[in-house]
Amino acid sequence: MSESASASTQELERAALDSLAAAESESELEEWRIEYLGRRGVLSSRLRSVGALPVEERREAGASLNRLKNRLSNAFDEAAERASGSADRRSTDDGIDITLPGRRPNLGGLHPSEMMMREILEVFNDMGFQTVEGPIVELEKYNFDMLNVPPDHPARDLQDTLWIDRESKDRVLLRTQTSPMQVRTMEKQRPPVRIVSPGLCFRHEATDATHEWQFHQIEGLAVDEGVTMSDLKGTLYEFARRIFGTQRKIRFRCDYFPFVEPGVDVSVDWDGRWVEIMGAGMVHPKVLEGVGYDSSKYTGFAFGMGPERIAMLRYNIEDIRHFFSNDLRFLSQF
Ligand code: PHE
Repeated sequence: MSESASASTQELERAALDSLAAAESESELEEWRIEYLGRRGVLSSRLRSVGALPVEERREAGASLNRLKNRLSNAFDEAAERASGSADRRSTDDGIDITLPGRRPNLGGLHPSEMMMREILEVFNDMGFQTVEGPIVELEKYNFDMLNVPPDHPARDLQDTLWIDRESKDRVLLRTQTSPMQVRTMEKQRPPVRIVSPGLCFRHEATDATHEWQFHQIEGLAVDEGVTMSDLKGTLYEFARRIFGTQRKIRFRCDYFPFVEPGVDVSVDWDGRWVEIMGAGMVHPKVLEGVGYDSSKYTGFAFGMGPERIAMLRYNIEDIRHFFSNDLRFLSQF
């Protein structure tokens, strides 16, 4: 190959690469491609003119031009790829960089109280108890009178009850327990009755690690002919077995609630300490008679438990106030 042919190939390459580097937009790149690599472009016409060279130079000149054509078309591919990449990055004019990692949407989860309640309800549903829900704003007669809580009972005191309306004949309050659902259910249906009823309750409390003014309860009620205390114990043992495992000890002790007779409290062993998780007992005949049930024919048991207390035992939560503090550092652990 002659000196001049080789030099002009080098010059051509430099000029081509310089103008490729200057091409920014897709249309400028396309113009460059047509100018250098197109069918009527610089390289094609150079290759065509190889035929005019002396025979001994043709072979080397053609091979050299073909190598140059390959290098230029590789350079073009790279430039085109870079340009389309930066086009994506700039793809919107309003300054949004779509190559930045996306923002993870904040997916919520179930509240630990809700999780615990669902688990407990499932245990009782499996044993044939149906879930029913009732009003949080309740009539005094359901929350107290019909549950055999006499008007002078200390539980009615302003200290415990948050009243909505104390002046009307039918006084209205925020329910202090889910037990009114015993009465509401029995008023509506004849035995056999087997229900569980979850929901929020409110008491005018001084709060501390185990007391909140707002908390959940799950009420249970079973009424039929021949229901006995051993049914109560068998049902609650099964509940404890499923929630706390077969090894956990539970204890029944006498306790007083106006709407049961006899009444018990149920505690769970926690590292040698008894922790009360519910009240229970045989439904008081006065409550049965109050809803028109024949108490010589029907008997029943009832219980009321605190799912937050149970979750505290289950997950070693030291303060009940965490449940309603709305702190994600707590909530996101469940
Ligand atoms: N309602 C009672 C309480 O809030 C618990 C309870 C329910 C006791 C049913 C006996 C039967 O403490």
